[in-house]
Amino acid sequence: MKKIVILISGRGSNMEAVVRACARDGWPARICAVISNRPDAAGLGFAAANGIETKVVDHREFDARESFDAALAQEIDCFEPDLVVLAGFMRVLTDAFVARYTGRMLNVHPSLLPSFPGLRTHQQALDAGVRVHGASVHFVTPALDHGPIVAQAAVPVVAGDDAAALAARVLKVEHDIYPRAVRWFIEGRLSIEGERVALTPSEPQWLFADIAGEGV
Ligand code: GAR
Repeated sequence: MKKIVILISGRGSNMEAVVRACARDGWPARICAVISNRPDAAGLGFAAANGIETKVVDHREFDARESFDAALAQEIDCFEPDLVVLAGFMRVLTDAFVARYTGRMLNVHPSLLPSFPGLRTHQQALDAGVRVHGASVHFVTPALDHGPIVAQAAVPVVAGDDAAALAARVLKVEHDIYPRAVRWFIEGRLSIEGERVALTPSEPQWLFADIAGEGV
């Protein structure tokens, strides 16, 4: 049984998608804990209601990134996780923290990386005039929103879109590719080869959504 710790900062819909998929599909894994850096993160309620241990490490109680990351790592390590899943965890991580979980920490980012790292990705996409936008699941490396890509999903940008409409379309596909990618990790099917992630046995590491959000 593999052990997973999920980190959130807010709503936690990606965490919810992973928790539901794990239960529904009988993964050989257990979500040991959901940890938030914000005490008011809405996702903590869902986790607790589903019998998952919740913890808060409030970043405002620390005066340096290093001390916050050290306290967070201490909480995470209590659960001896095989995998750390960042699900809307909105903190810039120190190199030491990232190094501690090299090759066993995944993130979902709401853009087709390497385009649009950082915040306000949907507005960045609209401002750039791209016609295709999406989401990426990647292994975490010290560079912000960068690292070997496990899976990507593409959605169209259509006339009349604003950042909120685009965010909703992208979020739907995040909920599809993130549980899939986590499952691949749990099944021991991912290997990092330089910048590329190989999946064995192979299956599509991409998803193209149509306007209704259905994969095609
Ligand atoms: C998601 O769209 C996720 O991709 C994004 O925050 C949102 C969290 O939603 N993450 C990042 O921007 C990380 N750079 P959720 O709390 O409902 O999963």
